[in-house]
Amino acid sequence: MKGNAMETFTLPSSFKLGTATAALQTEGGDRNNNWYEWCELGKIKDGSHSLRANDHYQRVEEDIGLLKELKSSCYRMGVEWSRLEPEEGKFSRDAVNHYRHELQLLKDSGIEPVITLFHFSYPLWFARYGAFESMSGVERFKRFTAFCIEAFGDLCREWIPVNEPNVFAFNGYMDGSWPPGEKDMGLALRVMRHLAVCHMEAYKLIHAIRKAKGWEGETRVGLAVHLRVFDPLSRSPLDRLAANFVQWMFQGAVTHAMTTGRLTWPLGHGTPCGTGIFSDFTGINYYTRDRVKASFRGGYRLSTEKDAPKNDLGWEIYPQGLYRLCKACYEKYRLPIYITENGTCDAKDAFRPQFICYHLAQVSRLIEEGIPVERYYHWTLMDNFEWVEGESAPFGLIHCDFETQKRTLRKSGRLYAEISEKKALTVDMIKRFL
Ligand code: FCB
Repeated sequence: MKGNAMETFTLPSSFKLGTATAALQTEGGDRNNNWYEWCELGKIKDGSHSLRANDHYQRVEEDIGLLKELKSSCYRMGVEWSRLEPEEGKFSRDAVNHYRHELQLLKDSGIEPVITLFHFSYPLWFARYGAFESMSGVERFKRFTAFCIEAFGDLCREWIPVNEPNVFAFNGYMDGSWPPGEKDMGLALRVMRHLAVCHMEAYKLIHAIRKAKGWEGETRVGLAVHLRVFDPLSRSPLDRLAANFVQWMFQGAVTHAMTTGRLTWPLGHGTPCGTGIFSDFTGINYYTRDRVKASFRGGYRLSTEKDAPKNDLGWEIYPQGLYRLCKACYEKYRLPIYITENGTCDAKDAFRPQFICYHLAQVSRLIEEGIPVERYYHWTLMDNFEWVEGESAPFGLIHCDFETQKRTLRKSGRLYAEISEKKALTVDMIKRFL
């Protein structure tokens, strides 16, 4: 990331910074979920296995110690459905106690949790029913949601029912690289619609249960939707049209549905859960931008800007995209914004420090312009099991040696800790870190 000189920035004292993680990517040790099976089928590029991951399930105390070292004031974590409901309708007390212990430790450390209920992994029994392919999946997810809120709702007031319904539907049902490995656009859209309805139902349930119990703290339920910038490859109106089309298909319609409760093309139509508000914050997972070219046979082609800075996976690094997406979402929905994921794959930690600063500078700019961005969850705490990339795509502020499970704070981690503590990037920090 060459070019612009790094400038200082400040963030409001109420702004919270932390990290985001997912249960399957960190915990290890669970054989009862769809990703276990996918690994067993030999689908992971480097041959690694979700059974190992960060062994976080056994290292909760140590890892919360790391959050403290990073000066985190918030933490996005997942709970694993296949541990909590190992058999249909039978819930595990041990798993409940485990997560309650983790939440209590976070509370004692002054770290605000937000829990993700579905982050790409679910029990094998649920997979056998076809997961979210039919509306019965929504009913089963509702039962799991209600159970979790009853079990943890006194210790956690913020919830994300569904992570990235668009990425899950695309990878699992169109591209086929993720479980269940389907390639069927109609089915992908159906799954995305059902996940949007899961979100709406969960929104209502979570508010109702926390209110009925009289638990303290403002309940907030929101999204974690994967938003990309889709820019036309050229000035041609056809490319612009194609870019708008992809934008709507991939992320626009599902974001709209989960925020307003309204299904629109291509997801369907109507208001399956009634009218009203279905999100208390817009949660944005932001990583990169694509260029879109209309293709003469109809459709479109995606590419990445040739000379742009890229991460280890070839994703363009484009910090202004975060500004553009947050601004567009706020103009449309007028909700507080959480950056529920933002980070980069950088094995050598060569550009992650700059990546963090350039993106946070955009956050600071948004706040100065009056756009209420309230949280930033860096993806991710430590190198973990990155889905089909396995252990070969390190996104961590902390290096994890998977063999020994030794955790080592990277330079970017030290910088992020200092930014989180001071709520600023100072001239002195630029000299020392960048
Ligand atoms: C997001 C996922 C997260 C992680 C990052 C790199 O799409 O939500 O689990 O894989 O990408």
